[in-house]
Amino acid sequence: MAKVLDGPAIAAAIKRETAEEVRALSTHGIRPGLAAVLVGHVPASEIYVRSKVQTCAELGLYSDLISPPDTVTTEEMLDLVRSLNDRDDIDGILIQLPLPKQVDAKFLLDAVDPAKDVDGFHPVNAGKLQAGRPALAPCTPAGILEILKRSSLPISGQHAVVVGRSDIVGKPVAMLLLHENATVTICHSKTRDLGAVTREADILVAAIGRPGFVTPEMVKPGATIIDVGINRITTREEVDRFFAGDARREATFAKRGSTIVGDVHPKAYEVSGAYTPVPGGVGPLTIAMLMANTVRAAKMRRGL
Ligand SMILES: NC(=O)c1ccc[n+]([C@@H]2O[C@H](COP(=O)([O-])OP(=O)(O)OC[C@H]3O[C@@H](n4cnc5c(N)ncnc54)[C@H](OP(=O)(O)O)[C@@H]3O)[C@@H](O)[C@H]2O)c1
Repeated sequence: MAKVLDGPAIAAAIKRETAEEVRALSTHGIRPGLAAVLVGHVPASEIYVRSKVQTCAELGLYSDLISPPDTVTTEEMLDLVRSLNDRDDIDGILIQLPLPKQVDAKFLLDAVDPAKDVDGFHPVNAGKLQAGRPALAPCTPAGILEILKRSSLPISGQHAVVVGRSDIVGKPVAMLLLHENATVTICHSKTRDLGAVTREADILVAAIGRPGFVTPEMVKPGATIIDVGINRITTREEVDRFFAGDARREATFAKRGSTIVGDVHPKAYEVSGAYTPVPGGVGPLTIAMLMANTVRAAKMRRGL
């Protein structure tokens, strides 16, 4: 039986430790603070940001939710970012993506002080990560490493295959695995005979954005699967393809008209030795690591 890697439990442990650090910092008069910038009214973004702000409150961090209108210009956003860079009560700046079309997102993210870049997207932090220097690493990749380490799964000497090369997930997780002495292969849409490569993986990270893309024959028996994908499926045909005979999923689909599937076909989990389910795997780690990064940024900025 494949072992289920329990994302919510690992995220809860990280949050407990982070709350502990926040309490310890408070004895020195320091309260780590996160600014969350949410532009306009994108329902999914509103849900994400609300839960980030709520988690700050639960762990004792200060948070400031700033909501510019969706007509905001790049120049106005730049002024906002510069003011947040200058504020001493703010240790982390989070700009929720996507931004409206008229805002130059790359230009803006580059304007965030790297010391407050708790998403780890700034080129300075990407460069530090590559160079193996202390850096704020992107939250989802950092969370994946926590799942592996806290589940006592070996990384050193393992062959890790990462499918996906985005700046947000694929590249940074590959770099983190490399620093932990895995032998890393990065695959993408131009990779030839992808299945032959993924079948070599002791650790298979799927960050593709395609529902159930990794099928059982692409997985080496006993491998660890980290399924990063979050794909909403809305058709009966898709539900039948991925969840035939799964009463819980049927019930979810009947109630909501949709359900979530990862980038790995659920049948492929059965071939693995351990896997992160979707939902309930990597997802909860992202917010936990955002909190941990904010506390880390608060300490690094003060030389603690
Ligand atoms: N759990 C979380 O908190 C969390 C956080 C972030 C993202 N996600 C999820 O993770 C998934 C990936 O996100 P992302 O931002 O990294 O996506 P992305 O920027 O769209 O990158 C997708 C990557 O997959 C590769 N790819 C696409 N089709 C492929 C194919 N047929 N064969 C091999 N590789 C292929 C692409 O290759 P090319 O570079 O060649 O185009 C690209 O590198 C999404 O489902 C997203 O929702 C989850």
